[in-house]
Amino acid sequence: MNETDHSAASPVSRADVRRPVTTRRSRALKGRMRPPGDKSMSHRAFILGLLARGETSIEGLLEGDDVMRTGAACRALGAIVKRVGEGRWTVVGRGLGSLVGPREALDFGNAGTGSRLMMGVVAGHDVTATFDGDASLRKRPMRRVLDPLVLMGAEVLAAAEGGCCPIVLKGTPDPRPVEYTTPVASAQIKSAVLLAGLSAPGATSVIEKEATRDHTEKMLRHFGATVSTESISEHGRRIILEGRPQLVAAPVVVPADPSSAAFPLVAALIVPGSDVLVEGMMMNPLRIGLLATLLEMGADIEITDRRVEGGEEVADLRARASLLRGIEVPAARAPSMIDEYPILAVAAAFARGETRMRGLHELRVKESDRLAAVAAGLKAVGVAQVVEGDDLVVGGTAGAGTVGAVKGGATIATNLDHRIAMSFLVMGLASQAPIAIDDEGMIATSFPAFKSEMSKLGAEVS
Ligand code: S3P
Repeated sequence: MNETDHSAASPVSRADVRRPVTTRRSRALKGRMRPPGDKSMSHRAFILGLLARGETSIEGLLEGDDVMRTGAACRALGAIVKRVGEGRWTVVGRGLGSLVGPREALDFGNAGTGSRLMMGVVAGHDVTATFDGDASLRKRPMRRVLDPLVLMGAEVLAAAEGGCCPIVLKGTPDPRPVEYTTPVASAQIKSAVLLAGLSAPGATSVIEKEATRDHTEKMLRHFGATVSTESISEHGRRIILEGRPQLVAAPVVVPADPSSAAFPLVAALIVPGSDVLVEGMMMNPLRIGLLATLLEMGADIEITDRRVEGGEEVADLRARASLLRGIEVPAARAPSMIDEYPILAVAAAFARGETRMRGLHELRVKESDRLAAVAAGLKAVGVAQVVEGDDLVVGGTAGAGTVGAVKGGATIATNLDHRIAMSFLVMGLASQAPIAIDDEGMIATSFPAFKSEMSKLGAEVS
């Protein structure tokens, strides 16, 4: 990629060119891997770079398609965005209030986070922008973000049926500060309101009944804004942002993404004899629900070398093949592992006894309907499962290490969903017969080197 190229690091599939991939039962996985940079933080690093005055330098950025789209949008809104090395980027921002109107539609591809956060940015500026994306993004609910932004003074000039993309949003340089209670636990809604609130006079606050990832709050503070957080109930929080701060460029170091680390970790747990070290994983407490769950299931995961990198605690995780047992995962844990349920379902399929995952309604509105996709995929590979309301129950088998615990021998429909693709590819490493996915294209949105990194550990993937 050249210095100003904002296309994907590895191009995602065009809708008409599918690239199937197959995984096969593998010998013990061994070695170490550093997963790619955190996707949530990478989007936010670009966006804060756009809004700050001066040059923001970023290290460890995820060079996946989703984040590249956000970089391209930042450029269309007036920032100078450059690649200066592997995972190293600079953004020269225009400063809060100084964005330019993009000449063309902002195409966010598959990226819900990039599009929704940028809607918040546009809502607080005197610009009009068109938001669009691929077939998956065009189906995703956007009213949840547009509703509060309209309360703040933005106008939706056009939208597709159901308030979906393509959407034309007109911002205002003078948004109203609001106190907004998010109707669902969503860091994207919270972040969009806070980003719009940057331009509002006075305090904007967001109340969330269940705490969600706090990267926006932390990064806003890092760039000079005043953001306070108070606890309002066992799981709930109020986040208060003082409007119209001076945002000043700041260096950002992006740690390894726990949502991507989940794949080598679970692979090591289910492939007999494995011993894998996953390096530099972000340990933000609002992101590690999967780790807590796997440990409860009896996973042999050793957490070593806890340290702080770029304002986040990180650690190296050593995972060894384990005899897992089925458990009940409480609904309250969902926000801290919302993207990890597909891979948890894979682990659960190898566990002894049933695993019940409660409160998964938000899975229906991710890159695909993940609840339906996981249930259909498990059924296809011979794993007992049932969806009961918002719960997913996975039957479990005889325990990891039991040869042929999962039959396999099916091709899984990925429906433009990277996490469905990677989860079932991991499952194929320990199933009796190979497992194929119909298209690897979307893996490039979050983990472009997934296949080669897994192969290096000894995974049979082709
Ligand atoms: C994200 C928030 C989550 C998550 C997504 C990334 C973020 O979405 O699923 O992959 O970076 O804010 P919701 O906010 O819709 O739960």
